Amino acid sequence: MDRAPPAPAVTAPSAARRAHYLDALGIDAYLSRSAPAAVASTATTPAPDDEWEALRAEVAGCTKCRLCETRTQTVFGVGDPHARWMVIGEAPGAEEDRRGEPFVGRAGQLLNSMLRAVGLARESVFIANILKCRPPGNRDPGPDEVASCLPYLVRQVALVEPTVILAVGRIAAQNLLGTDAPLARLRGTVHRFGEAGTPLVVTYHPAYLLRSPGEKRKAWDDLKLARSLADGGRAE
Ligand code: URA
Repeated sequence: MDRAPPAPAVTAPSAARRAHYLDALGIDAYLSRSAPAAVASTATTPAPDDEWEALRAEVAGCTKCRLCETRTQTVFGVGDPHARWMVIGEAPGAEEDRRGEPFVGRAGQLLNSMLRAVGLARESVFIANILKCRPPGNRDPGPDEVASCLPYLVRQVALVEPTVILAVGRIAAQNLLGTDAPLARLRGTVHRFGEAGTPLVVTYHPAYLLRSPGEKRKAWDDLKLARSLADGGRAE
């Protein structure tokens, strides 16, 4: 029998904090530029495929921050451009920088298993990172690097129009939500991202789960929460 959908708590950063955050990133300007109301005529609206290609080319040639000096290549993102799930991590590591694809190292193997556990093939989701370039030595992204790069991700989210976003790890979660709250506080509730208010669930980074396998149970709870949202609120 169909049961009532779960009613997860929905949280959003305070309006003031979020406004400041988006303002600082120039994302408001981008969102209002791309809002349908601002489009004068369909004849001038780029087709989604063209937008993807334009965005891909912009990212490939990006020199907005110093990471362009040390990268092997940019790591744009991979997967189904119409995916219902978007998985967002932190930044490419050494292997990703070498291969030009996110989550292809050991953490990526675990991410693939986590996705399989909720019935998803890697190819059926879209996977991207907060940063498109590897920070040297895998250090944390700098605020200026995030500010330069996040607008690309916002454009990717607008093109994919996912049903749910899974933010993996503290850095992804904090930067997507414009908060310094610890990951433990961000898990277990449904947040909203961007103008479309896309539901966003936070979970542990697979690299952390490799070091702390005891936390996998909680990650499983997070995946089930995300799946319930992707499936339109279907209960377990
Ligand atoms: N960790 C991330 O956050 N992203 C990757 O692409 C690889 C490792």
